[in-house]
Amino acid sequence: MTLLRNKLELNLTQRPRRLRTSGAMRDLVSETSIQPKDFIAPFFVVPGKNEVQPIGALPGVSRFSVDTLMGQLERTLNLGIKAVVLFGVLPETQKTSDGHYAYDSDGPVNEALREARLNFGNDLVLITDVCLCGYTDHGHCGLLKTTPRGVVIDNDRSLEGLAQMALSHAEAGADMVSPSDMMDGRVGAIRQTLDAEGHSDVGILSYAVKYASAFYGPFREAAGSSPSKGSSDVPKDRKTYQMDARNSLEALREAELDEAEGADMLMVKPALPYLDILAKLRPQTKLPLVTYNVSGEYAMIKAAAAAGVLDEALAVQEKLTAIKRAGADLIISYHALDALENEWV
Ligand code: PBG
Repeated sequence: MTLLRNKLELNLTQRPRRLRTSGAMRDLVSETSIQPKDFIAPFFVVPGKNEVQPIGALPGVSRFSVDTLMGQLERTLNLGIKAVVLFGVLPETQKTSDGHYAYDSDGPVNEALREARLNFGNDLVLITDVCLCGYTDHGHCGLLKTTPRGVVIDNDRSLEGLAQMALSHAEAGADMVSPSDMMDGRVGAIRQTLDAEGHSDVGILSYAVKYASAFYGPFREAAGSSPSKGSSDVPKDRKTYQMDARNSLEALREAELDEAEGADMLMVKPALPYLDILAKLRPQTKLPLVTYNVSGEYAMIKAAAAAGVLDEALAVQEKLTAIKRAGADLIISYHALDALENEWV
């Protein structure tokens, strides 16, 4: 062992550790906090009655029919959460090439909206996911067409279906609709349709910046919405509409366009691999920024916790804090209820 020959001449005027000396001190100087109202809780809604279907890929998350969902909404409300986002899940037999069950006024999401309004009045902000992927037999977020270059997404015809879907949700009582399809012009098409039909007060939470991500895997099992279904000439991924992970200027452009088309809130999705995008977008817009802490991000922590390699409570607290610190106003997370019930945040 080598011993120091001279005593160190330390003259530390600044000692950051002085502000970390106790829990109370750390709370006192903390810059970021998470409140129940920062969360939007996601729920999957299926047709039928008495359904509680656990989702294998998302331990602790289930699909609910409208009747069982109401108990979950009450639980959500009791935790101080102000908003939910609903995803409809249909049996394969109801899926078609044009996904028209997406705007069936008796669909599970529409029914859930009416029932939730009846039970909870205006206490809960009801948001619906607007996308065709859970309703098309090919699993794409838009409609397909055959061209000399093969089967591609028919952007403009898809907008009609999306606008109809948004309208059917507005008619069933949605406070906001949330298009997640990434077609060009969909925010404008939805805004125009809602306004024309007397729903100018229904808002749009746009999935403005949505990357083509591996982290949506568990969701696609939950919603049966994988694009790899169907015939061999159907595109197998969403890369012609969702964004390329290598780009960030493109994210700012997407957000700018959606704001110009009438979006009321903007979303960045997924959350953790794209916190840099969230931080870059923050100064560009005055709209509330939402981030979606997606299914894969949830499943990873669950798997690691189950394997005993990390502490779920600490991991969840840290990830949610990081998302807020990066600039998110609101967080959609499958961990929202767990985090509040267990007082992890
Ligand atoms: C539908 C949609 C997806 C998610 C939200 N809306 C899946 C996808 O784009 O493939 C993913 C959410 C999650 O992973 O939790 N377009």
